[in-house]
Amino acid sequence: MHLVALHGYPLDHRLFDPLVERASSGALGPITSVFAPDLRGRGQSSHPVAATHAMSLLADDVMGDVEVALGPDAPFLLAGLSMGGYVCFEFLKRHGARFRGRLRGLALFDTKASADDDALRAGRKAAIEAIRKDGIGAALTAMLPKLLARGSQGTPAEDLARRMVLATPPATAMADLAGLALRDEGFEVLSAWDRPLLVAVGDEDAIAPPSDAEAMTAVATRAPWVKLLTVPRAGHLVPLEQPDEAAAGLVALAEAALRG
Ligand code: MLT
Repeated sequence: MHLVALHGYPLDHRLFDPLVERASSGALGPITSVFAPDLRGRGQSSHPVAATHAMSLLADDVMGDVEVALGPDAPFLLAGLSMGGYVCFEFLKRHGARFRGRLRGLALFDTKASADDDALRAGRKAAIEAIRKDGIGAALTAMLPKLLARGSQGTPAEDLARRMVLATPPATAMADLAGLALRDEGFEVLSAWDRPLLVAVGDEDAIAPPSDAEAMTAVATRAPWVKLLTVPRAGHLVPLEQPDEAAAGLVALAEAALRG
């Protein structure tokens, strides 16, 4: 089974390198490959930066990318971290029916189903202005302290997080922020979801804390299998900070998906 994994803001596909490695060494059980595309406007994405990266636009991009990368029939699990999770909600809303026969399970890492309130929207606006003025370094200053658990500081995970933020073109980060501010909530999608669901969160996640993860599992009453995984010594980047825990959660999800 494939895993399609969508990264967060302002990051890229390298967030999932530890899972890619585990899949290729057979350590992800039934998951034999990980497709982690770069979202629009960065890395190897074929989609150019737009003025606003609405979650619906990113979800439509992913739909096309999945068709090309996986072919027409292969079964897959869909995973998203933070902004990637918001993209998953739009993907299910817009393309869920199309992939109904193939999409066997959903994994949400360090994300939330609530939309931005006025204060968060004002924060996004200020962040856009800071990047316009000072470049991507402004995003690094704002985000890095919030991305990782205390114990991840000074580790290779922090180094990669820093490199991913700095590799994000400023126009892309600004377009992401504009799209994040406009996004819809995802609770309705989750309450309709009727396949296995993994919700994983770092216990030190300062952006989407465990209370957000609990709120998501609470509404997923139609899912036949739901696992809430709270990961010790992880912040907002569980697959990078504690890849073995993330891998164990995904293997359990894949096994539940195979049971049907
Ligand atoms: C992310 O990690 O994708 C962002 O922090 C999401 C957000 O700011 O809501």
